Amino acid sequence: MTKKMKIGDIIISNEELTNRIDELADQINNDYKDSNAEMVLLGILKGCFVFMSDISRRLKGDIIVDFMQVSSYGNGTESTGNIKIIKDTSINLEGKDVLIIEDIVDSGNTLSKLTKILEGKNPKSVRVCALLSKPSRRQVEFEADYTGFEIPDKFIIGYGLDCDEKFRELPYIAEVIIEG
Ligand code: IMP
Ligand code: MG
Repeated sequence: MTKKMKIGDIIISNEELTNRIDELADQINNDYKDSNAEMVLLGILKGCFVFMSDISRRLKGDIIVDFMQVSSYGNGTESTGNIKIIKDTSINLEGKDVLIIEDIVDSGNTLSKLTKILEGKNPKSVRVCALLSKPSRRQVEFEADYTGFEIPDKFIIGYGLDCDEKFRELPYIAEVIIEG
């Protein structure tokens, strides 16, 4: 039987998201204002797409936009600790300021592996900007350089995040209710 998924309580409203993303962009603009390297904004598909579009339009200075898609090996809902690159970046990252844009840091496995892989490409810097973080779920020590909101251990949807590929388009972050 197919599970029924419903939108539950709103955890973060659109206004709260917008205000926080303004703050993150200010912080990023300030931190990179003296860098003479080109910035590559590297979004991690698919969850990044809404946040990436918001952040990119608030950044000052020239940026290059690119995307990667990665997945954990195995197909359970729990992260396994190994990542597979489904779509790699097509940009030469050497000497660039790479800023990874991710929807959420959960176990930390994806980003701890990915940042190491990207550091091997000789960029000037690699940093991570994540809209959300669930600190209580970490399996490996990892903190993003920029985090929008820390949230409790609940499965959430909206603003790019999905449950079974649905609800990414919601303009807010909500809890998902699964029935059946
Ligand atoms: P991890 O940090 O390696 O465990 O992987 C984080 C990835 O798991 C994110 O990029 C999301 O795609 C997914 N994820 C984790 N928690 C949630 C959630 O509550 N809703 C939707 N996707 C989630
Ligand atoms: Mg993701």
